[in-house]
Amino acid sequence: MLLTIPGVLDGDTVGQFREALAAAEWEDGRRTTGYLAARVKRNGQLAEDHPVAQALGERILAALERNTAFISAALPHRVFPPMFNRYGPGETFGTHVDTALRQPAGQLRRMRCDLSATLFLSDPASYTGGELTIADSYGTHAVKLAPGDMVLYPASSLHRVEPVIAGVRLAAIFWVQSMVREDPARAMLYDLDSAIQHLGAAVPDHPAVVQITGVYHNLLRRWAEV
Ligand code: NI
Repeated sequence: MLLTIPGVLDGDTVGQFREALAAAEWEDGRRTTGYLAARVKRNGQLAEDHPVAQALGERILAALERNTAFISAALPHRVFPPMFNRYGPGETFGTHVDTALRQPAGQLRRMRCDLSATLFLSDPASYTGGELTIADSYGTHAVKLAPGDMVLYPASSLHRVEPVIAGVRLAAIFWVQSMVREDPARAMLYDLDSAIQHLGAAVPDHPAVVQITGVYHNLLRRWAEV
């Protein structure tokens, strides 16, 4: 499932992010990538332990905790601390698959990356190129979103960042270990949850609303690992 979640950060917050990121020191993005992906990666990123990355990352995590669409779609168990990257003219990240397991800095336990997320920070009118191109069983999707909007997609997907031709593309990226490991099961729970929300609003007193809510929880009980 590929899902766009608008307005994860509001315009004022994105402005503050861009200001903080403009003043930070960027390093070569190949530092944190495996050998194969490093061959196709050309960008800048903030070190994981950079104070700006940590402060902004915590604000994103707080925003995600309040975001019902994210909670419903990702069913998050653990969220990797967000990382920040920057693509200038000629920079790109060629086709790759994200690493399955990651160890957040300063944590003992590794996490499994079930979902990948990109939170766009630059105005799409301010740069050309730089689309996030994601392949899934329905074809290839080119994603370029308004600042503050986020795309969530299976970490198993082949994807790339198209070369930036002009301007600068800033984004935050992170991964989610979901309580529900398999994407098709997670997608069904998301559909069921949104149907329940609509029915609950349209016919709140209908006994079937409670019955179908019970089915949702019983499927979650069957599939969730915590
Ligand atoms: Ni990637």
